Amino acid sequence: MELKIEDLHVEIEGKEIIKGLSLTIPQGQTHVIMGPNGSGKSTLAKAIMGHPHTKITAGDIKVDGKSIKEMTTDERARLGMFLQFQNPVEIEGVGFINFLHLASQSMGVKQGTTKDFMKDIKGKIQELKLSEDFIGRPLNMGFSGGEKKKSEVLQMSVLRPKIAILDEPDSGLDIDAIRQVSESVNKIAQTEKTGLLIITHYSRILSYIKPDFVHVMVNGKIVDEGGKELIEKLEKEGYDSYLKA
Ligand SMILES: Nc1ncnc2c1ncn2[C@@H]1O[C@H](COP(=O)(O)OP(=O)(O)O)[C@@H](O)[C@H]1O
Ligand SMILES: [Mg+2]
Repeated sequence: MELKIEDLHVEIEGKEIIKGLSLTIPQGQTHVIMGPNGSGKSTLAKAIMGHPHTKITAGDIKVDGKSIKEMTTDERARLGMFLQFQNPVEIEGVGFINFLHLASQSMGVKQGTTKDFMKDIKGKIQELKLSEDFIGRPLNMGFSGGEKKKSEVLQMSVLRPKIAILDEPDSGLDIDAIRQVSESVNKIAQTEKTGLLIITHYSRILSYIKPDFVHVMVNGKIVDEGGKELIEKLEKEGYDSYLKA
């Protein structure tokens, strides 16, 4: 599978946020977008998944050459796309494990028996150093920032997406949690040959999840692209030179 963003323009409430952005993410590659606050990174992630706040005014988003612009979020997810939100929503009354089961069923992802499913989840819960009582709790209700992020990695492991967009998977996580989340993401991505688009401010997570390509996004556009060497440059120099340009 290949996700292709072509000269995309996106508005939120009448204001242009994404101003002509192109990006191609094939399965099996890891791409990183770095950029200052407010440059439109989360807006891009939401537009790719068809979030109702976002309005595409020009350009296109394609999966394997076919436009997905008119698809619902659900339809996009069923193609095998996954978005980890920067700020995950809380859902009252839906138990976490039920949610996972329902979600994977509705996406048509084949799971083993309920027993196997539970065993897989319990394994992942241990891997992510979450407590066992997580399974019965309502989705994201009262979860700490770190638990929310980890719960989304659990969702990803169940849904086995072909393309996954992770919006600041490291925000609110301590150093150990960053490593645990990264290792789980790596494992899923390797097994499924998932194409990853990782949005982050900080390079720490990139010492665990190795990007093939790095894109710098400022003011709704990609202003620089390169390999891993760009991370070091950004770490040293920040975004100042791009903001002045
Ligand atoms: N729901 C919204 N309503 C109005 N403006 C928004 C909304 N979400 C984001 N914006 C604006 O869009 C711009 C980009 O925000 P965002 O995509 O969250 O940036 P980033 O993720 O790079 O920090 C900001 O100027 C922000 O104020
Ligand atoms: Mg953001």
